[in-house]
Amino acid sequence: MKTLVIGTGGREHALALALARDPAVTEVHAAPGNPGIGAVATLHDVDPMDGSAVAALATSIGADLVVVGPEAPLVAGVADAVTGAGIACFGASLEAARLEGSKAFSKDVMAAAGVPTAGSRTCTTSDEVAAALDAFGAPYVVKDDALAAGKGVVVTRDRDEALAHAAGCDRVVVEEFLDGPEFSLFVVCDGTVGRPLVPAQDFKRIFDGGRGPNTGGMGSYAPLTWLPDGTVDLVMEQVVAPTLAEMRRRGARYVGCLYVGLALTSAGPKVIEFNCRFGDPDIQPVLALLTSPLGALLSAAAAGELGAAPEPTFADGAAVSVVMASAGYPEGSSKGDVIIGTETLLDEDDVDVIHAGTARTEAGLVTAGGRVLAVRATGTDVADARAKAYEGISSISFPGAQWRRDIAAEPLGAVEGAAVLE
Ligand code: AMP
Ligand code: GLY
Repeated sequence: MKTLVIGTGGREHALALALARDPAVTEVHAAPGNPGIGAVATLHDVDPMDGSAVAALATSIGADLVVVGPEAPLVAGVADAVTGAGIACFGASLEAARLEGSKAFSKDVMAAAGVPTAGSRTCTTSDEVAAALDAFGAPYVVKDDALAAGKGVVVTRDRDEALAHAAGCDRVVVEEFLDGPEFSLFVVCDGTVGRPLVPAQDFKRIFDGGRGPNTGGMGSYAPLTWLPDGTVDLVMEQVVAPTLAEMRRRGARYVGCLYVGLALTSAGPKVIEFNCRFGDPDIQPVLALLTSPLGALLSAAAAGELGAAPEPTFADGAAVSVVMASAGYPEGSSKGDVIIGTETLLDEDDVDVIHAGTARTEAGLVTAGGRVLAVRATGTDVADARAKAYEGISSISFPGAQWRRDIAAEPLGAVEGAAVLE
């Protein structure tokens, strides 16, 4: 099986590594990729947002399966262009990706499907926003309706800050605050059947203790030993099955990863958000633990044949990823800082370096984005994996590097947003 991964981040590197481990996968290609992905895949300089260019590349290399990683190309219809060219694609169609592309659409689907989630109102005027804030009370949750790369959500006790965020957006969703530990469940879907992977937790704030601004994610671990037995089955039954059915009813069959972001509230798991892709870095430890072949799983999903495919299996033990970000992140990012030490981890069996914002120049490996790389480790339990990941971190350096010291030190006890509200 020849595979093509679209994207350039840590998620795509982790996917490329897992595909390369699948004995049925003969070739891994990526576009545009990054230097880490280039070590396991053939890179092609193609714009991931250009559906016809991606379809043409897939055709020219004879790809059997295209995996579209990030949300932006999915929301732009790149999966539709690939399937339109007659090539199997793991990734949501333009219509299905609206589950992430529009918060209002996703709330509408959840309401129609009876999915447990925070109460919400979609607002376009400041009067509507003020009324909704007062109806739900503090802490206030205000979400930009449009795709905002993880930066569209404000959680605050300050009513003026909530109003100011809404004023900067065309349309917002104001929500009830969900209190409880947050976790991510990635479900591989074929339109009708969903197969859950092991749940993971992602540390979203830039600083230790859940302080500072939201980021794309500063570290993650799996499995979640504290999650009550039966939680995944409950989410499959109450959230995933009705959502897949509702999307079919709307003529938008959901094929790809349904990323369910949840809070475990006192009234049970409730959906915080849907995304139309794997989460990064949350998917990294999940794929490190996957023992069944990834290519077979994703192609069964793309073909609508998940029901007949074996369930994914996972190793015992745990995995942890710790992200190193560049100076200035998350407000900005510093580019061109020379990274040293990654090669010292090449020979380690249970530690690897997942590249995100890196580039190869005459100066060597340099930073090229906000989240630069992650050190990922597996171990007998979370503590063991965590110790190995931090040992790896200590051998890598670049000017201005930032990383959290408390990834997986203990489970996130509550939604991280709550920590900064005190
Ligand atoms: P989102 O982009 O919807 O995932 O929101 C980003 C972050 O804001 C989430 O990971 C949560 O930490 C927080 N958040 C979003 N919605 C809520 C909510 N209804 N209650 C509490 N926290 C929330
Ligand atoms: N780790 C959060 C995300 O991928 O959205």
